[in-house]
Amino acid sequence: MKGIVLAGGTGSRLHPLTLSVSKQLMPIYDKPMVYYPLSTLMYAGIQEILIISTPKDLPLFQELLGDGKKCGCSFSYAVQDAPKGLAEAFVIGEEFIGNDKVALILGDNVFYGAGLAKLLQSNNNPDGGIIYAYRVNDPQRYGVVEFDESGKVISIEEKPKVPKSNYVVPGIYFYDNEVVSIAKTIQPSSRGELEITDVNKEYLKKGKLNVSILDRGTAWLDTGTFQALMQASQFVEVIEERQGLVIGSLELAAFEMGYISKTEFIELAQPLTKSGYGNKLLGILNKEV
Ligand code: TTP
Repeated sequence: MKGIVLAGGTGSRLHPLTLSVSKQLMPIYDKPMVYYPLSTLMYAGIQEILIISTPKDLPLFQELLGDGKKCGCSFSYAVQDAPKGLAEAFVIGEEFIGNDKVALILGDNVFYGAGLAKLLQSNNNPDGGIIYAYRVNDPQRYGVVEFDESGKVISIEEKPKVPKSNYVVPGIYFYDNEVVSIAKTIQPSSRGELEITDVNKEYLKKGKLNVSILDRGTAWLDTGTFQALMQASQFVEVIEERQGLVIGSLELAAFEMGYISKTEFIELAQPLTKSGYGNKLLGILNKEV
């Protein structure tokens, strides 16, 4: 299975922070934001990943992440000329996807929870689409899922004024290869975007959309506002410093998934000890042995 990180957009809710630098390069505690979704895909068992961003920002992602080889992965890059919607990722990524299945994650979504990696790995071979539902207080900002009494999904609505439930779709999606043709046939919405919700509705119509509830033990943080960005940094800091864990690390994901050896992991961590980041990585190693 292949993966796409969608890291374009305008980031207008973070202006002036993001006037000259991409939102997904903003720090969340001690790492650039894009590390978090990228490591989530790596923990899902995906090693071939396409990073999509704006023409202006894409070179910065290339400089930061390179070809992925040092993490035992292959990273490639593509431009989205204008923020024409999440589903455009599959049109832009058509050649990269080829005949494979594909996961999409939004570049500003942070996921963290025990058991999450296993859950994602169990979903990385979909026949149709697999999305998640997560309970939030402000569902009208997202795609809202409506369930019947038996727990079956009956509708998905994008940013409804009157939400039919508190369950919304977080920014990670797994699809079979048909997603490319579906994305090419849907029409732009009234806000001029190819909506991922329309892709999901198409799978739902075919009876091929699987929606699993992400339990409350999983943290899903959206980082698009000043407050959310600050809270995400504090969340990561508290967990890392209190428990001695490292969240959102590409180096650690590569090592824990067996994409690189212990020697390669140490070689990646050592040049990063001056900031303390490398020491944290090496510290994890000491706990494991
Ligand atoms: P949003 O947060 O909806 O949009 P944005 O990042 O442009 O921010 P704002 O609302 O403050 O202007 O986007 C969610 C994620 O998807 C984010 O990581 C940016 C990315 N994105 C794209 O890469 N291309 C797109 O066409 C859209 C709509 C979003």
